[in-house]
Amino acid sequence: MERRVRLSLASKQAGSERTDSDKFWEARRLVAVLELTNISKHFGAIQAVNDVSFSLEAGQVVGLMGDNGAGKSTLVKMIAGNFRPSHGTMRLDGTEIVMHRPKEARLHGIEIVHQDLALCNNLTAAANVFLGRELRRGIWPIRILDYKAMYKRAGEIFRELKSETRPRDLVKQMSGGQRQAVAIGRTMLSEAKIVLMDEPTAAISVRQVAEVLNLIRELRDRGIVVVLISHRMPDVFSVADRVIVMRRGRKVADKPIAASSPEEVTGLITGAIEQV
Ligand SMILES: Nc1ncnc2c1ncn2[C@@H]1O[C@H](COP(=O)(O)OP(=O)(O)OP(=O)(O)O)[C@@H](O)[C@H]1O
Ligand SMILES: [Mg+2]
Repeated sequence: MERRVRLSLASKQAGSERTDSDKFWEARRLVAVLELTNISKHFGAIQAVNDVSFSLEAGQVVGLMGDNGAGKSTLVKMIAGNFRPSHGTMRLDGTEIVMHRPKEARLHGIEIVHQDLALCNNLTAAANVFLGRELRRGIWPIRILDYKAMYKRAGEIFRELKSETRPRDLVKQMSGGQRQAVAIGRTMLSEAKIVLMDEPTAAISVRQVAEVLNLIRELRDRGIVVVLISHRMPDVFSVADRVIVMRRGRKVADKPIAASSPEEVTGLITGAIEQV
């Protein structure tokens, strides 16, 4: 995937004709990677997500906004296999998928960075990147954890993300931004198609916000769809191509970011503007 991106960049720099790889990426960008149709989720009497439909296309950053309790986390958790929808269907690359657990979503190339990050504070950055997917060496039944390989690969991932996080550092000693890089690093282990991020910039410093937004751009440039849940208007307007707004479980807007404004989105979030 990386090679294709590099090839297409090289051809653009040379100002030459469109290559096959350019055409491949253009075609891929037009195809919906994930299509949600009439998705709902209720918890007892609470209708957390109500009849939501949208599609996600490769290489797009989609800002998902809405007030507390609007249903954003519930929606991405359904895409990540944490919850099963009460109603509705999901299609990945045109094929309907039904997931029972997060592992199945991961096999489909869907990765999530949860609102609470779900990292183990007493482990190193590398151990967190590989948590549940540890590399081993030796021949069965004597298979031992291959720490050397994990440190090496984690180091490569952080370099690819242009993050200064070091594989051997303990997560409990890290800043919020470095923790985000570790959580995002986890999504880079496999060839993800879709990365869902739940409030990655909520609790970090201004400088670290810029770093996380750059990580998001790195993922997008690799052709990955990023869904960014955020309450922070400047972050969404600086990095997203499209914005989806939810209010009380319903989708009330879905439009290119260039066709909207922070004022309009605020109105949609609060209900001052009903729907667009
Ligand atoms: N596991 C659960 N059991 C019962 N109700 C839930 C559960 N998860 C979410 N809810 C309810 O569903 C609604 C939507 O919650 P959700 O977490 O999706 O909102 P959100 O948009 O992510 O909010 P926030 O911005 O505060 O993170 C809320 O009313 C919440 O109380
Ligand atoms: Mg949430």
